[in-house]
Amino acid sequence: MGHSESELLDVASIREDFPILQREFGGQQVVYLDNAATTQTPEPIVETIADYYRTTNANVHRGLHQLSQEASIAYEDAHDRVAEFIGASGEREEIVFTKNTTESMNVVAYAWGLNELGPEDEIVLTEMEHHASLVTWQQIAKKTGATCRYIRTAEDGTLDMDHARELITDDTAMVSVVHVSNTLGTVNPVSQLADIAHDHGAYIFVDGAQSVPNRPVDVEAIDADFFAFSGHKMCGPTGIGVLYGKKHLLEEMEPYLYGGMMIKKVTFEDSKWNDLPWKFEAGTPVICQGIALAAACDYLDDIGMERIERHEQRLADYAMERLTEQEDVEVYGPPAGHERGGLVSFNLDTVHAHDLSSILNDSAVAIRAGDHCTQPLHDTLGVAASARASFYIYNTREEIDKLVEAVDDARQLFA
Ligand code: ALA
Repeated sequence: MGHSESELLDVASIREDFPILQREFGGQQVVYLDNAATTQTPEPIVETIADYYRTTNANVHRGLHQLSQEASIAYEDAHDRVAEFIGASGEREEIVFTKNTTESMNVVAYAWGLNELGPEDEIVLTEMEHHASLVTWQQIAKKTGATCRYIRTAEDGTLDMDHARELITDDTAMVSVVHVSNTLGTVNPVSQLADIAHDHGAYIFVDGAQSVPNRPVDVEAIDADFFAFSGHKMCGPTGIGVLYGKKHLLEEMEPYLYGGMMIKKVTFEDSKWNDLPWKFEAGTPVICQGIALAAACDYLDDIGMERIERHEQRLADYAMERLTEQEDVEVYGPPAGHERGGLVSFNLDTVHAHDLSSILNDSAVAIRAGDHCTQPLHDTLGVAASARASFYIYNTREEIDKLVEAVDDARQLFA
């Protein structure tokens, strides 16, 4: 285990919580470097899920029996815990549980965008948006006649803030930006962008899928109007996403899905909506997943989000150092030493990213290869695909060495 990590995190003891990291393929222990896609789930969260189904499982807000009451309280409290984790002082009323970040985006795009946008409005995005944001706003723009504009990425992989100031005008209705790019690792100045948006009377939606797992996030310090992230990238289960919205905005918005739980009163003629956040949680909600997400917030807070951020930055710096010392490797995003999320995307010039990933798999090194749901960004990079190594609390420098050795193997194979 790397000593440098142990200065920040007790990686050896963290790894004990993740039995999956002991798995071997072809006699080699897995090196899991695909954490931007999904992180592994530690034992305390697996136990929370099992314990919920063993002891508390019932539908919420529907039964007067003891199990339903206990499940309802745990589910409601989970919203408060998540609110606390991201600094939302409005507590549960500002926290909507969805299925993932993408759904959180769609809730706002449909519930707000479809009703509020028109041909005179502009939506400002960045070139580095994930498809979850880019495609969603692009399609809502088509339906409403609004126009999407894209803030350029500067040569050094950061956001071109001069271009941002040029594009965000009084015509802008929504600025939707990724906090940490899932491809470049760029950490965008979302608080500054929020100020610019608000100066022009626009709202800002921040995609925090790659930031909330890895760094302390305070939605009120950012002054985000909306903020989204997913549980499965932060030690939680799949099937749980979060939409934070300022209370007055969520109150003004119409629901996006209709059905049970989002209702206060129904007649044959009309319906009245439930209080926040249930107004946006139609049907049987993500009960166990929400409770497990709250447990994941506890797990990460026990480790310490600031320490996690520094650990990831160190791993990213080390990966940058090792990969950039090789002349035939092109690395994307901000240069070494620059702030970045815990991921590095790259290409080996003689081997397609898919082939590289497959060869790395022979050494039990798991990375992602492809466009990472950022096809337009890859177009601007002039490549169709890239390989991406992404890190989390249990990764070590030695694992990055294994990655680099496996890249060497691929180079030799294709020589
Ligand atoms: N958005 C996730 C990723 O970047 C799935 O891999």
